[in-house]
Amino acid sequence: MNHDTTTLITGGSGGIGLEMARLLAARGHRLLLVSRDAGRLEAVASELHRTYGTEVLVHAMDLSAPGAAQSLFEHTQRQEVRIDALVNNAGFGIVEEHVAIEAAQIQQMLQLDVVAVAELCHRYGGEMKRRQAGRILNVASTAAFQPTPYFAAYGAAKAFVLNFSEALAKELEDHGVSVGCLAPGPTDTAFFDGVDPRRIAGGHFFGKAGRADPREVAAAGVELLLGGGLTRVVGLANRVMILGNRFVPRTVVAAVSKRMLRPLAIGEAPP
Ligand SMILES: NC(=O)c1ccc[n+]([C@@H]2O[C@H](COP(=O)([O-])OP(=O)(O)OC[C@H]3O[C@@H](n4cnc5c(N)ncnc54)[C@H](OP(=O)(O)O)[C@@H]3O)[C@@H](O)[C@H]2O)c1
Repeated sequence: MNHDTTTLITGGSGGIGLEMARLLAARGHRLLLVSRDAGRLEAVASELHRTYGTEVLVHAMDLSAPGAAQSLFEHTQRQEVRIDALVNNAGFGIVEEHVAIEAAQIQQMLQLDVVAVAELCHRYGGEMKRRQAGRILNVASTAAFQPTPYFAAYGAAKAFVLNFSEALAKELEDHGVSVGCLAPGPTDTAFFDGVDPRRIAGGHFFGKAGRADPREVAAAGVELLLGGGLTRVVGLANRVMILGNRFVPRTVVAAVSKRMLRPLAIGEAPP
């Protein structure tokens, strides 16, 4: 890929997406960054243009709104921007007992983490297949590899992204289109802003010290996007944990997961 190709990054204004944007801009890729906050997008675009001299297009929109993927696709068609690479990175999770989460929030999360990913792959993947060229990277999570009580719908949404990406990769591999899935573990971004690790039994796993540097996670993502490959779990400890899951009955995995993610009662010390 070179200067004539455009990479669309959802959630490219912060966290892992922004670090991927920096790495791709440094390689001279033209970018289209999509997220909600227009001001933040403009600031990121000028920073990247100033630093790397690359063209950075932005489009502010809420990808958790129904029909968002179609409206983004139509926007790029109108602007005559050909998307050569698609990074489905925008996503969020809610750490809470499932029945205590507001229904509207669950819908928003699934719309962003699942529906938008599937629909953007459908739209842009279809165009890529037609051109017999293209790359897609979907960001899942280590939460995709086991049930995650108190994080139930998020983990299941990421399990969708993982299985969907691997299946789509097989469908498109004979048509010049690569599909990779990145599975980061806890990473030091705004993702955990609303979560107090001291309130979770296995909180040390999510605490600052246990989180990966988003630049390292992004580097693994860019390598996967450009170099090809099916699924990349980021970090040795995460890879070992996921490998271990395969040899343990699912009931045990679910029980251990519950022990780790269980919210602590007020005043209760971590186990
Ligand atoms: N951080 C972790 O520990 C971790 C671990 C595993 C997987 N992941 C996954 O990695 C991906 C990136 O997460 P991150 O940690 O980098 O999160 P982050 O720092 O919170 O960044 C999220 C990005 O997505 C955008 N965004 C959020 N909601 C959006 C919406 N409704 N429509 C459009 N854009 C939206 C945000 O910008 P605006 O707020 O301006 O819209 C921002 O640019 C997510 O899919 C997440 O599930 C994260």
